Amino acid sequence: MASSRGEFSSRFGFIMAAAGSAVGLGNIWGFPTQAASNGGAAFLLVYLVLAFTLAYPALMAELVIGRHAHANAVRALRLISTGPKSRFVGGATGIIGFIVASLILSFYAIVAGWMIAFCLSSATALLGFDDASTWLSSFSLEGNLFFMLAFLALTVGIISRGVQDGIERWSSRLMPVLLVTLVLLVLYVLSLEGASEGLKVYLLPDFSRALEPSLIISALGSAFFSLSLGVGTMLIYGSYISDKENLPVLGGMVTLVDILIAVVSGFLIIPAMYVALHNGVEIFDSTGALISEDTLIFTVLPGLFSTMGMAGTIVSFSFFFLMSIAALTSSISMLEVPVAYTIEEHGVERKTSVMAIGLMIALASTVILFNFDTLFGLVVAISTRYAQPLLGFIFCVYAGWIWHRNRVLKELRKGSEDVENTLFWKIWPWYVRLVCPMIIMGIFIQSIFG
Ligand code: TRP
Repeated sequence: MASSRGEFSSRFGFIMAAAGSAVGLGNIWGFPTQAASNGGAAFLLVYLVLAFTLAYPALMAELVIGRHAHANAVRALRLISTGPKSRFVGGATGIIGFIVASLILSFYAIVAGWMIAFCLSSATALLGFDDASTWLSSFSLEGNLFFMLAFLALTVGIISRGVQDGIERWSSRLMPVLLVTLVLLVLYVLSLEGASEGLKVYLLPDFSRALEPSLIISALGSAFFSLSLGVGTMLIYGSYISDKENLPVLGGMVTLVDILIAVVSGFLIIPAMYVALHNGVEIFDSTGALISEDTLIFTVLPGLFSTMGMAGTIVSFSFFFLMSIAALTSSISMLEVPVAYTIEEHGVERKTSVMAIGLMIALASTVILFNFDTLFGLVVAISTRYAQPLLGFIFCVYAGWIWHRNRVLKELRKGSEDVENTLFWKIWPWYVRLVCPMIIMGIFIQSIFG
């Protein structure tokens, strides 16, 4: 069965694909601004600890279940179930997971569309087409619709080519480009006046802020979003890994790349904000906190770029190009979740499935765009704040409680014969059984009542 469905051809291909999924808009803008407004290096430290001790074990739960079943989440969770009840809950979790993955894609595509529009806006400015450039960065409804559709078309194009020719090939091409662009941007921004002020904010730890419980919980939430956990994305990527590979090592590398990119992005965004301040652009809001999120990306940074003349336009192009790539390698991993389900459970052809699901998601994004003020925030909250942690909780329960420990061990032994004697096997089973579910519940309760 494994050979008739897709499989990553190499370790490098898997790492690029999974890291491509993990590294997205969350890393490049979410993490840096959170760090800046929450105690700088102290937040970084909390984030690092949480990513390795909690997000990594949860990632491993999805990878090992997926690789064992070599199937989508619905079938995989049913396979490791022990009775009718757990089979039912497992199947339902898989189905809800693919619905949530589609919802996440429906708002992600809108944001990614803005990134493409801003990228093209810089390109047209470079070529001297000023009117086109202004229109491209104006957030008009037609523009939003068009670029959302264009972004989904790219995603659909890649996913319709399958695992090796689509996901693996494009992730392996785009991720190195992303890395090089990011490093060049960091080096350039660090050479500008004002950057060292930003470095101080980023690197000087303020422990009094970083140890607040609400902050720890939000750091964990962003670590989960950043590693694409909960909706079966990593499970389906795990299902395409060959039985010869060492899972704990592969999962560890993906976690490392994800964290590395988040940390390096901090060296771009925060110094850039202080360069902007130096050039007279406002970077604090009315409460004195650093401006973050969409205002940072679409107002403060463009404000900075426009003070830098021609160089600013090139930097702006590179920055939004970087964002577009990061979004694309993430969106393909979201679309693969429902697509794999319909192919495997309902025998639909890949191309048909991709087109049909792509159209449905485009429709959902269109509805969101027409009702932006009411729907956008709501869809983000339902899918990422509520559904993701809850589903992540169930995955950990299946890996820690439902699936028999010896069977888990047997699966991990493929590709790593002496896994039993490693630190991983001494710690991970307890983490995924007790620590992860408890902490995830903590986030969930906090996000409802907090
Ligand atoms: N991890 C990506 C980011 O940081 C987003 C992402 C991709 C995602 N696939 C996902 C989030 C699945 C949740 C679920 O932007």
